[in-house]
Amino acid sequence: MPHLASVADLDELIEYYRTPPAGVRANMIFSADGAAAFAGRAGPLSTPLDQALLRGLRGFADVVLVGAGTVRAERYGPVRVDGMSHGWSPGRPIPPIAVVSLSGVLPDTLFADPAQRPILVTTRRAADEHGLAPDDRRDVLIAGEGTVDVADVVSQFRDRGLSRVLCEGGPTLLDELVAADVVDEICVTLSPTLAGVQDIGRGGGGLASPRAMQLDHVLSHSDYLYLKYSRRR
Ligand SMILES: NC(=O)c1ccc[n+]([C@@H]2O[C@H](COP(=O)([O-])OP(=O)(O)OC[C@H]3O[C@@H](n4cnc5c(N)ncnc54)[C@H](OP(=O)(O)O)[C@@H]3O)[C@@H](O)[C@H]2O)c1
Repeated sequence: MPHLASVADLDELIEYYRTPPAGVRANMIFSADGAAAFAGRAGPLSTPLDQALLRGLRGFADVVLVGAGTVRAERYGPVRVDGMSHGWSPGRPIPPIAVVSLSGVLPDTLFADPAQRPILVTTRRAADEHGLAPDDRRDVLIAGEGTVDVADVVSQFRDRGLSRVLCEGGPTLLDELVAADVVDEICVTLSPTLAGVQDIGRGGGGLASPRAMQLDHVLSHSDYLYLKYSRRR
């Protein structure tokens, strides 16, 4: 039977996530109508507890895998240990951020800590065309010729001892992982909002902010979750 419970805070919530698979765990938030972002960012859909969960899940991972679109949109930095208090302990390596990219165009924020080199995950062709070689700032992992072979990425991570992969999106990278059938677990936060159609990676949509909705119930049957949201009364 799945657990149905209400949780008060991160301490209670994180207990349900303590055993990641030795493979790919994906973590995503979606609006109740299925959008993964609002005006180009996931933040308007999120809440402090969801943000704390996102950081907390990193404590149970060996590597954080993310698409370059997300790294650019969310201006990713290195993993911070203060968000991982539940799963990580000093002495264990801090999980590196591994970014899938053909362009190699990544924000400076990602290189803020020289002690934490990100891993650029790319193809042989892109590495040759854009001169994407390992250096002081970044490691480079080559997987595939013209497009990144994400199954090979997971396999190469395993060979490096990074078997617990936490994928934080975005939707494009998640699609690739799903198509390669390498997603072992997906953690979904359903946001009580309506966001409308969103052009992922750009601004857009007719609303000034997501429409807040009220959760009426959470019911589970045969692995399906039945949620009902209504306009706030
Ligand atoms: N709702 C959520 O939980 C969530 C999570 C993360 C992000 N987001 C939102 O999603 C949006 C970004 O998502 P997105 O789908 O546009 O971007 P994305 O999946 O983060 O990144 C797409 C980029 O990753 C690279 N890439 C991905 N798969 C590849 C492959 N197999 N081979 C080669 N390159 C590959 C390419 O980078 P290059 O262009 O550098 O070549 C591509 O442009 C942002 O608005 C962000 O806020 C939401």
